[in-house]
Amino acid sequence: MHPRLLERLHAAVGDAGLVLDDEARAPYETDWLRKFTGRSSVVVRPADTAQTAEVMRICHETHTPVVTQGGNTGMSGGATPDGSGAQVVLSTVRMKAIRSVDPLNNTLTAEAGVLLAHIQAAAQAVDRFFPLSLGSEGSCTIGGNLATNAGGIAVLRYGNARELALGLEVVLPDGRVWHGLRALRKDNTGYDLRDLFIGSEGTLGIITAAVLKLHARPVARATAWVGAASIDALVRLLAQLRAACGERLVAFEMLSAESLELILAHVADSRAPLASAHAFHALIELADTQAQGLAELLEGGLGEALEQSLVDDVAVSVSGAQTQAFWKIREGISQAQMRAGKAVKHDIALPISALAAFVHRADAALREAMPGVRIIDFGHLGDGNLHYNVLMPLDTAPEAMATATARLNRIVHDLVAEAGGSISAEHGVGQLRRDELRHYKSEVEFDLMMRIKQSLDPNQIMNPGKLI
Ligand code: FAD
Ligand code: MLT
Ligand code: ZN
Repeated sequence: MHPRLLERLHAAVGDAGLVLDDEARAPYETDWLRKFTGRSSVVVRPADTAQTAEVMRICHETHTPVVTQGGNTGMSGGATPDGSGAQVVLSTVRMKAIRSVDPLNNTLTAEAGVLLAHIQAAAQAVDRFFPLSLGSEGSCTIGGNLATNAGGIAVLRYGNARELALGLEVVLPDGRVWHGLRALRKDNTGYDLRDLFIGSEGTLGIITAAVLKLHARPVARATAWVGAASIDALVRLLAQLRAACGERLVAFEMLSAESLELILAHVADSRAPLASAHAFHALIELADTQAQGLAELLEGGLGEALEQSLVDDVAVSVSGAQTQAFWKIREGISQAQMRAGKAVKHDIALPISALAAFVHRADAALREAMPGVRIIDFGHLGDGNLHYNVLMPLDTAPEAMATATARLNRIVHDLVAEAGGSISAEHGVGQLRRDELRHYKSEVEFDLMMRIKQSLDPNQIMNPGKLI
């Protein structure tokens, strides 16, 4: 560590902004999945943009590497420092002001450390809607959501985090501030810097605030659970419902039978939504700003699907409690996997038309390569994002886990690449998929990314070892 680093950081952020104690630093040094653990030199928690800028000026001058961290719910190890003990963790948790809400312009300006759930609540308080929704919304931050370009359950209707941001404020690696908090839907004044920082996972700068787009608040929702014999049938159902319901279709989430079994076994108070067994399940939701006709629309669409044998059983929710129970099952999958084993996670995106064929090929390839393999396949079918995971036993040794991961990654990701898909859909690349990204990106694309990184972060201090 640079000799005067701590003293200078202390002068910048004061006592409240420094975490030095080993025990207090520990939660910042391990990720949510407990897959990655590192060691920080210090955790710095600036209170505002000015303090963040001062911290970065110091780190720039002293060539100190910085790992930005929001809610630490990321799934790719992007917010965990390495084991060197040389990296500073910069936590945004104290930057939690909602700076303004403008219902006329349908925008809200929030600082990076505001929890996603608080942004949703602030939008609702002015009769508007912020549609980004993830299982971790009670603990992830909007800065982290933008830095990972998070997806979640409503992307098919509202897009991912990128599509929900209009402007950003960013502290650059040398401590300068880019004041890009524009609340405009049209702004063609040159290269799109905003989109460069969104999804950059803390490797180009620190997002300190954002202008977010608000939407009209839906007043009605209709939810159903369906069981189907094949993934092909669910893909066809999705297309039919999109055609019939248009923008009202907001969620179409899929769980394989094995995924559902895992949840029912590991999540307290969860009950099977359907009495009969099915190879695939979907949780479907419509929402509208008009109160009338939504349930009939859903029932009509699903009735037709039953007649066509696209689905074999349907439960349309009749109460708020039942809807909540359906969503609790879907959102229990992350916990269930943690409790049941060690997951080799694949966060992949495919053209929806290629998705069923991919699942058939990947299932066959994995079963051949590893007889008895436990495939946990679920995800956001409505936008083509599958979490096509493999669950290994809890007692799998780290070396065996690493060998299996490399082997399974190559099989799954090769098939994804052949199908024109992406090996990183919504969780970010972080350290988990960094080498996979290098393997699949073309030379030209990788070279362009390296040049951007080099020009913005010439000292390579922003989240080294992640993404690129
Ligand atoms: P962190 O984990 O703290 O950081 C993530 C990355 O962003 C790191 O690389 C970090 O360096 C960088 N970063 C954080 N803040 C900033 C900032 N202000 N400026 C620059 N870089 C920054 N994700 C989905 O997309 N869809 C889901 O459906 C989903 N469901 C989840 C369910 C559960 C139960 C859990 C635990 C996680 C889930 N996630 C999901 C993953 C995770 O919640 C998201 O990736 C989220 O966006 C991370 O936000 P965070 O504040 O926790 O970021
Ligand atoms: C989900 O869709 O539930 C999340 O992305 C979390 C996970 O993959 O565990
Ligand atoms: Zn997901």
